[in-house]
Amino acid sequence: MLKVLCTALNAEEGPHFSILRNAGASCDVVDRSLDLTKPDVLRKVIAGYPAIIAGSEPFPAEVINSSPELRVIARAGVGFDAINLPACDARQIVVATTPGVNHHAVAEHAIAMLMAIARGFPSCDQEVRKCVWTRVSRPRVMGSTIGLIGLGRIGQATATRAIGLGMKVLCCDPYPSAEFLKSYAVEMVSLDELLSRSDYVSLHSPSIAETKHLINAKTLDKMKTGSVLINTARGQLVDETALIAALKSGKLRAAGLDVFEVEPLPASSPLLQMPNVLLSGHIAGLDNESHNGTWELAAQIILKLKAGEWPQECIQNLKGVQNWKWA
Ligand SMILES: NC(=O)c1ccc[n+]([C@@H]2O[C@H](COP(=O)([O-])OP(=O)(O)OC[C@H]3O[C@@H](n4cnc5c(N)ncnc54)[C@H](O)[C@@H]3O)[C@@H](O)[C@H]2O)c1
Repeated sequence: MLKVLCTALNAEEGPHFSILRNAGASCDVVDRSLDLTKPDVLRKVIAGYPAIIAGSEPFPAEVINSSPELRVIARAGVGFDAINLPACDARQIVVATTPGVNHHAVAEHAIAMLMAIARGFPSCDQEVRKCVWTRVSRPRVMGSTIGLIGLGRIGQATATRAIGLGMKVLCCDPYPSAEFLKSYAVEMVSLDELLSRSDYVSLHSPSIAETKHLINAKTLDKMKTGSVLINTARGQLVDETALIAALKSGKLRAAGLDVFEVEPLPASSPLLQMPNVLLSGHIAGLDNESHNGTWELAAQIILKLKAGEWPQECIQNLKGVQNWKWA
């Protein structure tokens, strides 16, 4: 019997149980009291399972190399930076993601953060609860400029919403979709031009070597004074120390952050004490629809691979490999 283990958070409910069990597979959920960020713990937990539905817990080479039964890691989500791809390639372990199911959730979250900052939430709410009535006027969103770094699925979903709000949309992406550019009023510019012209900069590129600390002291310096940074992509894109300095100096008016260099955000992080920072805990991709879609697709990927199919659009490694075999 095919044994599947879910190590991802929120695996306790979803359509994956019935999909896998109807196909004759078993589906277990990891013991949540375990610290899966420890390689030794993760290695023991996944022992004997050929298929994992993973979250953002790290799968380093030492875990991959000491799990002889492992054939597929299906990541519930689209980021796969926590999985050591070369180690998986070397052992012909498939690494798959579930693209196309959570882009609307992330785009809504990015825009919600932008609007909350623009309108002064949550401080307005907190003040009124303390019977403090202050009247602060802030810049209107309509007519302002948003710069999207990355115009893939999430960048595009954010762009269409920003257009709906009456914003001017600038984008930079080395491989923009020609079809999207034909259909929507967005302007492709260089990173420097985007930073210097945008009132809001929102990050939507992957976490890869080229994008590590893309937002750093130098690039922050190129941003408009009083502008806002929104990061719903990955913490590694931003040098947090430089960001904190820019927020303290007033170079940036505010930041909306769903992702961090270290997650969960340590209790010692200065970000926790800063009133001009709006925080959420890596939940941008999560809504009811994306939750179900993600689990459904992750289960289907595993069953397809087991049946000898190759869901190419979901597979992130083993480039050029032909005739991959489960066993
Ligand atoms: N916070 C969350 O819960 C959450 C959920 C889903 C995805 N994400 C993150 O969102 C990001 C985008 O996801 P997506 O589904 O839109 O991916 P995608 O692959 O559809 O799009 C990424 C885009 O980034 C572009 N890109 C690559 N390098 C770039 C660079 N140096 N500068 C500008 N653009 C660059 C690519 O060409 C591509 O168009 C990823 O980092 C992903 O990990 C976060």
